[in-house]
Amino acid sequence: MGLLLLLCVGPWVEGGKVLVTPVEGSHWLSMKKVVQDLHARGHQAVVLAPEVNMHIKEEDFFTLKTYAFPYTQDELQSFFVHLSHLVLEPEHFLMHFFKIMTIMKNTSVIHQRSCRELVHNKTVIQYLNESSFDVVLTDPVIPCGTVLAEYLSVPAVYFLRYIPCELDFEGTQCPSPSSYIPRLLTRNSDHMTFLERVKNMLYPLALKYICHISFAPYASLASELLQREVSVTDIFRWRIAKDAE
Ligand SMILES: *[C@@H]1O[C@H](CO)[C@@H](O)[C@H](O)[C@H]1NC(C)=O
Ligand SMILES: *[C@@H]1O[C@H](CO)[C@@H](O)[C@H](O)[C@H]1NC(C)=O
Ligand SMILES: *[C@@H]1O[C@H](CO)[C@@H](O)[C@H](O)[C@H]1NC(C)=O
Repeated sequence: MGLLLLLCVGPWVEGGKVLVTPVEGSHWLSMKKVVQDLHARGHQAVVLAPEVNMHIKEEDFFTLKTYAFPYTQDELQSFFVHLSHLVLEPEHFLMHFFKIMTIMKNTSVIHQRSCRELVHNKTVIQYLNESSFDVVLTDPVIPCGTVLAEYLSVPAVYFLRYIPCELDFEGTQCPSPSSYIPRLLTRNSDHMTFLERVKNMLYPLALKYICHISFAPYASLASELLQREVSVTDIFRWRIAKDAE
């Protein structure tokens, strides 16, 4: 709800143009509700999605703009089957961890290739640039929309409760002490025993590798597009820099 408030207090309160860059699957299902609400409040939304996708379909409350995707529907489907098996199989943490890493690696490669083709597609970029969006509403779990927003010089609003590896905390220099802030996948609460605190410190170390393979390629892509050195943390700092302007 805080997000909606934020979107309503801008200078374009009369009805703004929002570029939405969602992420496939359950992420999109919750974001779709926000897009529907934005439409109800008189904003105009363009949803940007790969032409091959599972859930992001045309609706009357937004304009769907698709771009070429370097994989077939079958390839995408088989990836999702792998992923759902993984989520449903109860397994030892370590086994689970290695499987997650393989799948994350594969997913990352798919998304990175797709993002690269998107930002290098002159037709699509020209259309987006000429559309003069007021804001990009993006799910930064795959930071393609974030890079795109920076490339188009449009401020971004991030739609995600939790960015892995505390990159948002790091990017915004927000304190996040391990003793009090429960980490991703630990199932800890904010009241932890000593052993839970140890677990709370160890899990993020394991996730660091995943974050590196998932996010580093976007930093290089951004460096290439913006022609300056961009780090992974920079990617998660951008919205603040924009807010400060
Ligand atoms: C750019 O994207 C459009 C729309 O998806 C597609 O028709 C076109 O083939 C793409 N161009 C390149 C060079 O990939
Ligand atoms: C990951 O990708 C490799 C090579 O493309 C493929 O052989 C493998 O089956 C994939 N694994 C999963 C779990 O998707
Ligand atoms: C968008 O258009 C402006 C004005 O024509 C241009 O200066 C800028 O380089 C364009 N940006 C991109 C990402 O193409």
